[in-house]
Amino acid sequence: MNRRYRKTVIAGNWKMNMLPSETKDFVTRLRDETADCKWCDIVLCVPFTHIYQAVKAAKGTKIAIGAQNCHQAAKGAYTGEVSCAMLADLGVKYVIVGHSERRAYFGETDESVNQKVHAALEAGLRPIICLGESLEIRENGAELDFVRTQLKLALKGIAPQSLKKIIIAYEPIWAIGTGKIATPRQAGEVGSAIRETLRSLYGARAARGVSVLYGGSLNKDNAEAMLAMPDVDGGLIGGASLDAASLNSIIKAADQ
Ligand code: PGA
Repeated sequence: MNRRYRKTVIAGNWKMNMLPSETKDFVTRLRDETADCKWCDIVLCVPFTHIYQAVKAAKGTKIAIGAQNCHQAAKGAYTGEVSCAMLADLGVKYVIVGHSERRAYFGETDESVNQKVHAALEAGLRPIICLGESLEIRENGAELDFVRTQLKLALKGIAPQSLKKIIIAYEPIWAIGTGKIATPRQAGEVGSAIRETLRSLYGARAARGVSVLYGGSLNKDNAEAMLAMPDVDGGLIGGASLDAASLNSIIKAADQ
């Protein structure tokens, strides 16, 4: 973390878990437990069906609500899809874009990720752009090039003044939901490569203001060591975000 230049962000990603009826209690509990949180931006990315309840329960608290996906078009004949304007109208502030599960199971490409980043910004949402290599790519030692390319493609055509709205999440696919976390050194190295790429695209000043999160089996026991890396500015948390106490422990580690 480097609080001098950028925000520490802890974002939960519920994925397709929890029920709408469980949302209010969870958010209320998290709100009470994080009331004295000073430094950390707290985001909870819930399924579309939970958004209304989540926004209502989080009103007036430090918790911002995010979505886990959006469609790139402003509106139209896209049955079953949800636009960024619809999310913004509900009070959503963040949206995860390009999660590896969406890339793997739902045909998300670097091009659609880029379109979604544009759409999110246009609607006033803050995109959390997910990047990360497979195990095969890491074993071939090609992870830095892979992540740099994903980043450049995701940011294609994004104006410098929009950069401050963007959050990057480095999530190595081999560490997601596997319990096999990257070492702080590995995460820090990719985090630095991400910042270096941002610097080459937008200049040092803009690049140093971007929060770069780590995601993949982050939990209360490993969060502190991970967040000690200068280019790890927070976490995107799946499994450990489903329990308010465990998410709160990570927030506490980030808020020190
Ligand atoms: P995990 O998921 O914390 O369960 O590994 C992280 C993510 O996919 O965002």
